Amino acid sequence: MNDHRMAIFASGAGSNARELIRHFHGHPRCRVALVACNRPDAGVIGVAGEAGIPVLQLERDRFFRGDGHLPELMEAGIDLIVLAGFLWKVPSALVKAFPDRILNIHPALLPAHGGKGMYGSHVHEAVIRGGDPHSGITIHLVDEQYDHGRTLFQARLDLLPEETPESLAQRIHVLEHRHFPAVVEAFLENQTSC
Ligand code: GRF
Repeated sequence: MNDHRMAIFASGAGSNARELIRHFHGHPRCRVALVACNRPDAGVIGVAGEAGIPVLQLERDRFFRGDGHLPELMEAGIDLIVLAGFLWKVPSALVKAFPDRILNIHPALLPAHGGKGMYGSHVHEAVIRGGDPHSGITIHLVDEQYDHGRTLFQARLDLLPEETPESLAQRIHVLEHRHFPAVVEAFLENQTSC
């Protein structure tokens, strides 16, 4: 694995960001160099602050219709973007600038329960409403369509008879925290060996 500089993009509480930061802390070949966020009040900003990682506040106009904040990403030497609960669609300028270098985690078994509007509790409500016997997580590459790029990893769990969107969200988070950092690391290792 060569030296990598990762940017985590997140919009929410940042529990996955926290696990990624913890996993890569002191890693010899990959550093979390930046956390990018589109909400000034998101919990992930505190997570980054505690770890001493700079935060990039994303501006809607620049992100979608301007330079996609590419100059700051270049300036920070970023070569990998990891979306960890990031609610904005990544604009095509960024997808093109980071081909096969943007990863996302989705809290269901894609291609089921993905696409526009399918995030957070909406996903878990749909899984339960649909009577699915299981759910899980999908870690995938990001292309220009929502929740669409090549799947790198899935893990599944069986739904409990008394499952609620809240209980499912909690159990999915456990799976995410267990697997996400290791899958990102394995992705980087495989990239450099091929
Ligand atoms: C996770 O469930 C992730 O799969 C989804 O958004 C949630 C983010 O949670 N895309 P957190 O902010 O990492 O706690």
